[in-house]
Amino acid sequence: KIAIYPGSFDPITNGHLNIIERASRIFDKLIVCVMFNHDKRAMFTQRERVEMIQRAAGHLPNVEVDCSEGLLADYAKARGSCVVIKGLRAGSDFEKEFQMSLINRKLNPQLDTMFLTAGTNMYLSSSIVKELAHYDVALADFLPEAIIPEFKARLRSKEQGGS
Ligand code: PNS
Repeated sequence: KIAIYPGSFDPITNGHLNIIERASRIFDKLIVCVMFNHDKRAMFTQRERVEMIQRAAGHLPNVEVDCSEGLLADYAKARGSCVVIKGLRAGSDFEKEFQMSLINRKLNPQLDTMFLTAGTNMYLSSSIVKELAHYDVALADFLPEAIIPEFKARLRSKEQGGS
């Protein structure tokens, strides 16, 4: 059974990695797909985000990392999957995720969304990590070790006026 775990992953956090590890134990294959969320302005390119996830999840042999610029409903169909995995944090995620799961099933009636409740990383989000990083907080509790050097380098180049 193949499941799709979609998201912006800008960048992948320990919260995402926890969901990836648990979902990869439930399904034969998990495809982590970096997708566009038009409500968010990305810090990393799609390719950079894919590479960071590949590094962070390199220890999981049944995890593939991909990206798509299209609709999740179409992507799942094209990859032969009928299950979307989402991580669910406290109440605030619920309304939005509930709506997205219904829209995705409207667009692709075969597609169901399964929610894994967040682990101990309940408080984490990519946005909050980007905010914390400006204040010289130790990042190892929040981001996979494998991506911290790249994350810090990007932050430095942004602070020096780069893109
Ligand atoms: O990590 P995010 O930003 O909460 O993930 C949201 C994402 C990327 C999964 C969502 O925006 C999405 O599915 N984008 C792909 C385009 C699409 O299918 N949009 C309709 C979803 S209702």
